[in-house]
Parts: sequence; C-alpha cells; structure tokens
Amino acid sequence: MKIVFLGATRGMGRALARRMAERGDSLFVLGRSTPELERTLSDLAVRGGRSMAGCAECDLARPETFGPALDAAAAAHGGAFDCVVVTAGLFATQDELEQDPALAARLLTVDFTNTVLFCEDARKRLLATGGGKLCVFSSVAGERGRKPVVLYGASKAGLTRYLEGLDHKFRAQGLEVITVKPGFVKTSMTEGLKAPPFAGEPEAVASSVLRAIDRGRPVVYAPLPWAPIMAVIRTLPRFVMRRVGF
Ligand SMILES: NC(=O)c1ccc[n+]([C@@H]2O[C@H](COP(=O)([O-])OP(=O)(O)OC[C@H]3O[C@@H](n4cnc5c(N)ncnc54)[C@H](OP(=O)(O)O)[C@@H]3O)[C@@H](O)[C@H]2O)c1
Repeated sequence: MKIVFLGATRGMGRALARRMAERGDSLFVLGRSTPELERTLSDLAVRGGRSMAGCAECDLARPETFGPALDAAAAAHGGAFDCVVVTAGLFATQDELEQDPALAARLLTVDFTNTVLFCEDARKRLLATGGGKLCVFSSVAGERGRKPVVLYGASKAGLTRYLEGLDHKFRAQGLEVITVKPGFVKTSMTEGLKAPPFAGEPEAVASSVLRAIDRGRPVVYAPLPWAPIMAVIRTLPRFVMRRVGF
C-alpha cells in the first residue's frame, strides 16, 4: 500500500508504521518536527529493507499545514496514495483540563475539529482516485460520558461519530473507514498514569489494527478485552455512572 501516516514518531503509531514497513508498504510520514520525522524514516527504511516515500511537516494545531503536507505525500507516491492513517492526538487529565481552559481549547481543537478537517481533506483525495482506506485512532473514552475523561472523551465521541458517518456515506464509493478504539495502552501518552488490569502494549495493538485495515473492518477495539468491557459500560444506567469513579 501507499500510505500517508500522521503520528508515526511515537507510541501506537510508531508500532503500526513499523509493521507496515516490515511487510513492504511504502510510507510517507507527517508530523510536527522534521528531525523527528527523518529519524522515523530511517528507522522504517531499516525495518523495510528499502527507502520510504518521504516526510513533511503537518501539525494538527495548524490546519494550514494539512493541504501542503498531503500534496507532498501524493507527489512522493507518484500522484496518489491509497491509505491514510491518523494516530496523532493529544491527552491531558480531566483535572489538568478543568484547571486550564486554554489547554482544554487546544485539546478539543486538535483531537476533534482539526482531526476532522485533516480527514476531510484526506478522504476527498482518496475518493478522487477511486477510494482507499482511512484509519483513525479515536478512543473507548468516547463511548460514555465518564468522570475521568469528560473533555477528552467528548472530543473522541465527536470524532467517532464523524468517522461512523463517513463510513455510512462513502463506503459504497470505495472509501473504507476504520475507527480504532484503544483502551489503556502503555505509551508516552499514558506515562505516569496508573495502568488498569487490561492495559495493552503498542505492538499488540499494531497487529490487530493492521488486520482490521486489511479487512476493512469499520471498528476495532484494542486490546481486544476492551470490546466486552465497553459493551457492559454502554449498558450501565446513569445512576450507576454517577456513583462509579471510572
Ligand atoms: N495510549 C492510550 O492508552 C490511548 C487510549 C485511547 C486512545 N488513544 C489514542 O490513540 C492515539 C495514539 O496514542 P498514543 O498513546 O500512541 O500517543 P503518543 O505515544 O503520545 O503519540 C502521540 C503522537 O501524536 C503526535 N502528535 C501530538 N500532537 C500533535 C500535533 N499537534 N500534530 C501532529 N502530531 C501530533 C505525536 O507527535 P510528536 O512526536 O510530534 O509529539 C506522536 O506521534 C491518540 O489519538 C490517542 O488519543 C490512546
């Protein structure tokens, strides 16, 4: 596949990009820091045994970077790409967000509004060349309104609904939208947080996400135990949700 990848520098994105390179996919990586992107490209090239397509600056806080970054990715892939992956995102605790409205505004903008705007540009380009795959990392935090993730969860809930709508509207035209809903995964994002019993590793998440991308599965929970956990949480009545702390 000819892949454009936003968020391959760390965490689950790095693990997934490595898997893709190892099996022979060609990647063009997007992110905030050119030196970081160049380091990522070298790492992917070693794992893939050949050079990758290239890199360009793209910051989810700066929508003006989206068009030029996707133009550069298309050019480097010989005119078009067939898969776009977005693992980039921002996290902060509910306490931090309640105390800092500017941080809350930044997180809501990066994780919802600007991620949607990036996906809108990407999906138009995919549809213009007959379709393709758009894989975006949302979160189980968007499944219910929960005390520890009121604001972060709201941004992911909005993102999940947007991706669901895209799937309903455009699948018949060849666009496969894959929404990834990770539970707690040990990455730089969750460093310092207390890990729950089913905490996962980025490498295991990468394997199941890659399978879902290949099969065009619209929703993937990772690690897998989060699927039944969230099935139960979705059914809990409000009076229970008000009492519990998770
Ligand atoms: N870890 C979890 O438990 C968990 C659970 C549920 C959902 N998720 C979601 O899964 C995705 C991946 O999470 P992760 O744990 O792998 O995160 P991570 O290790 O913190 O990596 C985050 C990635 O996002 C990039 N990024 C952050 N802000 C950006 C911006 N403004 N513009 C462009 N790139 C930006 C980072 O790039 P830099 O190198 O430039 O910082 C990095 O590559 C995120 O959407 C997250 O919300 C994570």
